[in-house]
Amino acid sequence: MASFSSRLNFVSQWPSPKKFGDDVLLIYDRIFDRHPKVASWVKQFPIRYAVKSGEDLKSLQSFPVHMNTILQKTHHLSARRLKIVVLGGGSVGDFGGFVASVYKRGVELIHIPSTWLSAMDSAHGGKTALNARGAKNQVGTFYPAKEVYLVKPLLLAQPAERGFEALGELIKMALLAGGPLYRKLNAVSTLNAGTLWQLLPLVIREKYKIVQKDPEEKKGLRHLLNFGHTMGHVFEAHYGLPHGVAVLAGLQFAMEWSYQKGFMNQKDYLKLMQAKFWQKAVKAKQQSAWKNLSMLALLSEKPQSFVRYLEQDKKKTSSQDLRFVFLKNPGKPVIAEVKVQDFLPEIARQQSFWG
Ligand SMILES: NC(=O)c1ccc[n+]([C@@H]2O[C@H](COP(=O)([O-])OP(=O)(O)OC[C@H]3O[C@@H](n4cnc5c(N)ncnc54)[C@H](O)[C@@H]3O)[C@@H](O)[C@H]2O)c1
Ligand SMILES: [Zn+2]
Repeated sequence: MASFSSRLNFVSQWPSPKKFGDDVLLIYDRIFDRHPKVASWVKQFPIRYAVKSGEDLKSLQSFPVHMNTILQKTHHLSARRLKIVVLGGGSVGDFGGFVASVYKRGVELIHIPSTWLSAMDSAHGGKTALNARGAKNQVGTFYPAKEVYLVKPLLLAQPAERGFEALGELIKMALLAGGPLYRKLNAVSTLNAGTLWQLLPLVIREKYKIVQKDPEEKKGLRHLLNFGHTMGHVFEAHYGLPHGVAVLAGLQFAMEWSYQKGFMNQKDYLKLMQAKFWQKAVKAKQQSAWKNLSMLALLSEKPQSFVRYLEQDKKKTSSQDLRFVFLKNPGKPVIAEVKVQDFLPEIARQQSFWG
């Protein structure tokens, strides 16, 4: 089985394209055609494929068109030596990873994540994905990158907004892991690009710790990474929120429910609610496009209207039960089975709680 830990390269300069050899295809987010510094790096790759990021890129329907073009562009290269370098955020990574995994039964993959979300999360752990039949990630493979480059000038040049969009995944990992990551998240002065860069190695390390115990999601352990995602996916689908923003709200929902259900005691709950990272997350939110988004607004629908999303949740273990990740305290998550119908009174309870 392939190793599920990719070689990590934290670099303060762009890697030389020559490093990847002669048989290389660059798949990249076409927004970089408008960023002069990145564009001049991109142009050093003789064979490149520019894509428009987003969920449409991951569509199963358009995949054959992309794949045919890619095969045509690379037909003169050695499939045995071919490397696919993918530069972009999570959508480009999910698409490019899938291409690498099926291109003549698999070629070497190198990720250069360009958003905080992809640098912290999606470039690691080997999940590739396409969307089908109106639902996300219905088709995919486990195909870890051989190498991941974390390029400081690329990540630091992102708009602040992308930093806020990654906070859901960052806080998720810190709550799942506890320990040094949780302490450091509380200790940093503010959540800006500089501190996200400092936290990055710890976040990635914690993700690999979980992935390595259950690389292909066969033992249920990898399901821990779904913390905050059950309701997060509902908010993402229903309101069209960015993934990380939806996950942040999903985490709040999960923590409230953890206390309500007695997984978390009152002392730990109060301690967690007063933890310093919340104030920093609130400040980052106030400075973002999401400053007016409230849990109350997210939960203001009739609870019943969320049921169809919960039922779609692909992690369902039986016709009625979902595996929900609760938290005892930082570093101590608990997976428990809950029925879709159990969400309804909890959503109603949290409506009055947040109101
Ligand atoms: N495979 C996994 O394990 C995994 C995990 C989490 C999320 N995902 C997937 O990741 C996707 C979300 O990730 P994302 O938010 O990175 O998506 P994205 O690729 O859509 O990027 C978000 C936006 O940022 C722009 N962008 C990218 N890099 C930039 C840069 N350096 N500067 C300025 N703008 C930049 C993109 O053009 C896009 O508009 C979803 O499709 C989700 O399903 C996958
Ligand atoms: Zn996620």
